[in-house]
Amino acid sequence: MSDRPQAKRITADFLIVGGGIAGYQTALDLLPLGSVALVSRGSIASGSSYYAQGGLAIPWKFDREAVNAHVADTIRAGAGLCDEERVRLLIEGAEEAFVTLVSYGVPFDRDEKGEVLLTREAAHSRPRIVHAGGDKTGSLILRTLAQNVHGHERFTFLTPYRLTRLLKEPDGRVAGGLFMDETGDGWLEILARATIMATGGFSALFARTTNPPSQVGDAAAVCHRAGAELERLAFTQFHPTVLDLPGEAPFLLTEALRGEGGHVVNESGERILFRYHPDGELAPRDVVSRALWLEARAHPESSLYLSVNHLPASYLKERFPQVYTHCLSVGIDLSRDRAPIRPAAHFQMGGIRTDMDGRTSLPGLYAVGEVASTRVHGANRLASNSLLEALVMGHRVVRGIASDRPGRGELALPPEEERDIPQSIPTLPSGEVTMKVIQNILWEKAGIVRFISQVRAGREEIEGYLARMREGPVTTEGLLLWNALELSREIFKDLLVAPRVGANFFLEDSPAGNGQSAQKRGKG
Ligand code: SIN
Repeated sequence: MSDRPQAKRITADFLIVGGGIAGYQTALDLLPLGSVALVSRGSIASGSSYYAQGGLAIPWKFDREAVNAHVADTIRAGAGLCDEERVRLLIEGAEEAFVTLVSYGVPFDRDEKGEVLLTREAAHSRPRIVHAGGDKTGSLILRTLAQNVHGHERFTFLTPYRLTRLLKEPDGRVAGGLFMDETGDGWLEILARATIMATGGFSALFARTTNPPSQVGDAAAVCHRAGAELERLAFTQFHPTVLDLPGEAPFLLTEALRGEGGHVVNESGERILFRYHPDGELAPRDVVSRALWLEARAHPESSLYLSVNHLPASYLKERFPQVYTHCLSVGIDLSRDRAPIRPAAHFQMGGIRTDMDGRTSLPGLYAVGEVASTRVHGANRLASNSLLEALVMGHRVVRGIASDRPGRGELALPPEEERDIPQSIPTLPSGEVTMKVIQNILWEKAGIVRFISQVRAGREEIEGYLARMREGPVTTEGLLLWNALELSREIFKDLLVAPRVGANFFLEDSPAGNGQSAQKRGKG
């Protein structure tokens, strides 16, 4: 027995890390099979699901033709890197996902006859996106799922804890995790027959992002350290229409605004996107973001805008209540004014490599939702396919776990040294690197448009910090920085080898450099 202090221990049949839509959908399906411990870093508003505005893409009305069209649009947007068979499994799972949500009571928006309302977003060949509360789809789905889980006798909710290490049985099978209490009040060990990561993506590793600050990918870094394979980390999706006001946090202006006829215009009011793609405002998201970046580089002193003033205030208030109210709070009345926009990091197509049942490269470890790389999104995700993935994969991972039968036999305890509370971690002297520094490196050197010289320089900077790390005290900040640096190293490695398609877009190096002056400008 180790004489070092050990963590408080909890056992459950299933451990879910992450309290977004993927985590809660998985919990709901697991509860009939056994006890579930769900660990979250905070309230349901701390992750990305809560902020999803657009909606849920479904092949309405689920007939073969509708499924085929949705599959084709997903593959077209994915710029050559989707796995077609997996895309089909995703889209075919939409009916179960949608019908289940309706049965739980998600209040999807409907017309006066009770028919579900469908909207269109970029790169969709038809309206097929269902929404709830106008632009509150993510929060309403998440609340409904959470309400159906909390209070269940087999469900335990634990917060605020941060994953620091995966625990493994002596044969290498993942058997839970070691968590640090975010309040600095001790350690928690959770032993489980199956461990499911549902922690979301890492777009908050970029200086400008639509994601909440928690989304820095630390859980993915922890899994990688334990041996889980990561893949396709070069494929960060940048959302084009994100409010750009000095001193204000970036705020997403949903793509559904363009789906409902919004225009992207320059200072003179000219629509610019048809210069880049025949579908203009409805071109795939990577194309639109790139177009905005190129325009900004060509005209660094001027801004670009989203204009939806063809829609009356009454309609905007009802259909886009969050967006309309937020814009009003910063002095923009969308029924009259145009909104200054600039892209921001939004979604990760890559992550922990999984099969279509959520199995990772480590036995006993599963991943679901944005943290996973299922290859369904290819090199650029189709709008509103992310909630679909979270829900469909939430159902599928549970079937995968059930067929792997992790309930057989006794759980073998991980060796003592694995369960010890860490006494030190790799750190740098205080202030040498901050999260802001890392976020700026990624934004400037792994951003919307890449340059090989910049990518190499970014990689060297990150490697330099890692090489200078020495053992130091265990703190939440130190853990976050260590994880962020290790994950950034993997991102830069992938940028150098990943196919240069879709979101991994490179320009030849030129004296004009990477246009960061253009990227830094904001509307005065
Ligand atoms: C949006 O509403 O534009 C974002 C939805 C998505 O990421 O697909």
